[in-house]
Amino acid sequence: MEDKHVTIYEVGPRDGLQNENAIIPTVDKVALIDCLSKTGLTKIEATSFVSPKWVPQMSDALEVMDAIQKSPSVDYAVLTPNLKGLESALKAKADEVAIFASASEGFSQKNINCSIGESLVRFKPVTKMALEAGLKLRGYVSCIVECPYDGAIEPQAVIEVASKLLELGCYEVSLGDTIGKASPQSIAHLLDVIIPNIEAIKLAGHFHDTNGDAIDNVDVALQYGLRTFDSAIGGLGGCPYAPGAKGNVSTIQLVEHLHNADWKTGLDLNALHDAQNLLQSWKLSEK
Ligand code: HMG
Ligand code: MG
Repeated sequence: MEDKHVTIYEVGPRDGLQNENAIIPTVDKVALIDCLSKTGLTKIEATSFVSPKWVPQMSDALEVMDAIQKSPSVDYAVLTPNLKGLESALKAKADEVAIFASASEGFSQKNINCSIGESLVRFKPVTKMALEAGLKLRGYVSCIVECPYDGAIEPQAVIEVASKLLELGCYEVSLGDTIGKASPQSIAHLLDVIIPNIEAIKLAGHFHDTNGDAIDNVDVALQYGLRTFDSAIGGLGGCPYAPGAKGNVSTIQLVEHLHNADWKTGLDLNALHDAQNLLQSWKLSEK
């Protein structure tokens, strides 16, 4: 891959739609993912196999995965918090699964009902089975700068969890600014501490855009060597267990910004506008 390439990891159908008040009809989710599959994206996080009691918006995960028209050039990823989720992901023929941990105890308890340590133990059999089945395995660390329950987070806590996820076999760990409170300064401070410990190429940026700093945070992360960024079509996104979490950085805004700065993404902006227009025709009301 040439040095000027940036991979855009589309998370809208999962991170976005998990946070909608309304239950979006399965057929609409499928149409959106099919539209996104025609944009040049190579990574689409399509849904999550989590407890429907916790996130009812994702309860049609299997139906979504069965109905989408899978493009051979796209990895369709799903979140899997436990073995039950992984078994469903295997049934659904996902290409990639993501385990998700937190750098803060408060968010770990609220989001997945266990401590950070317990989550890492829980992920062990999940990762083993996923890798044995030939799935690509990604990890998330949430609350890399600030937690809605515990406040400011030390970079060391992020390093510890990210390192554990890489040891478990994740090819990449996405650093989640879950509530969008990071600034270019706090991202620089975090990466100053992380990069001597973890290769930049094994990290991705997942910046929610609550304060409008996400694009500037991407620019800082690019300077530290990160080359993969999560974004959501239409700037959708949030987390039901992270009060104040706003949308992810918008895919179109990010791609336009990167192209203007001479980065290559391989994405077709006209096709991305088609996907965004489809989404806008739904008249969503975000939380
Ligand atoms: P729990 O209640 O401790 O688990 O939840 P449990 O094992 O006792 O199960 C409770 C019920 O859920 C049982 O059903 C299970 O069968 C069922 P019952 O017997 O009561 O009828 N269940 C499942 N059903 C389907 N698929 C599954 C599954 N697991 C259990 N995989 C659990 C623990 C982890 C399951 C729960 O807390 C959960 O699902 N949490 C997920 C929350 C979530 O999805 N949050 C949003 C994603 S994370 C995020 O947005 C951040 C990110 O974007 C990065 C960033 O921005 O920082 C990734
Ligand atoms: Mg998120």
